[in-house]
Amino acid sequence: MVLGSGAAVGQLAARLVVARLAGNPRMAIALPTGKTPLPMYRALVDFCRKGSVDFSQAHFFNLDELLGLPRTHPASYAAYLRREFFSKVNASPSHTHLLNGSTQHPLLECIRHERTIIRVGGLGLAVLGIGRNGHIAFNEPGSPIYSRTRVVRLAPETIEDNHFAPNTYALTMGIGTILQAREIILLASGPRKAQIVARALREAPTFAVPASALQLHPNVTVILDREAARELVITKGVV
Ligand code: GLP
Repeated sequence: MVLGSGAAVGQLAARLVVARLAGNPRMAIALPTGKTPLPMYRALVDFCRKGSVDFSQAHFFNLDELLGLPRTHPASYAAYLRREFFSKVNASPSHTHLLNGSTQHPLLECIRHERTIIRVGGLGLAVLGIGRNGHIAFNEPGSPIYSRTRVVRLAPETIEDNHFAPNTYALTMGIGTILQAREIILLASGPRKAQIVARALREAPTFAVPASALQLHPNVTVILDREAARELVITKGVV
């Protein structure tokens, strides 16, 4: 779907989340970070304040987290989700399952995340953004399609785009973990995503563009603004 603005992308994504939760209030949802999903969180908060959605029984997982940052650090993804979403809605703290970036045992932390997903019945929905290099969560180019939650070293483009320190590591759900969600929603807005969105959707699935693995999933909705869809329109005549 191609919409007029990043705000409209967020609004539609929020409406889909609300609709899915109406069908299954206990659904487990993987949540993205970054600038793209901010309008979605604002819309979800609005829906919650108006009483149009109840988050109290839903389970929430973060897709990724920076390794070495405690949850209280403002740059951590846990802090982002708390600031933009959890603190403003009626999500249950016992149902917010966040990777702990300051763990002393990263491998065990990854296994714990995977086991919790299984314990709550699997992900019903994964909402994703996309990096300029095609990453989903922090699955950088070269990530195996069957990968599970694990420790990764961030790619130079990711470090540059996010102003991270050199040699930043992260915990991320794997592509395999994400592909097991029953439904996936991919969001992208702005001209900087145009080229990679076109590659992810139009080229054959390739390790070089992790988001291209989404072509293998039977239930994906892609929501773009006009700028992010630009290369699709120009090169293929598709909107
Ligand atoms: C980070 C996150 C990704 C996100 C990407 C895009 O790298 N790990 O999950 O999709 O940023 O962020 P933005 O929406 O700010 O472009």
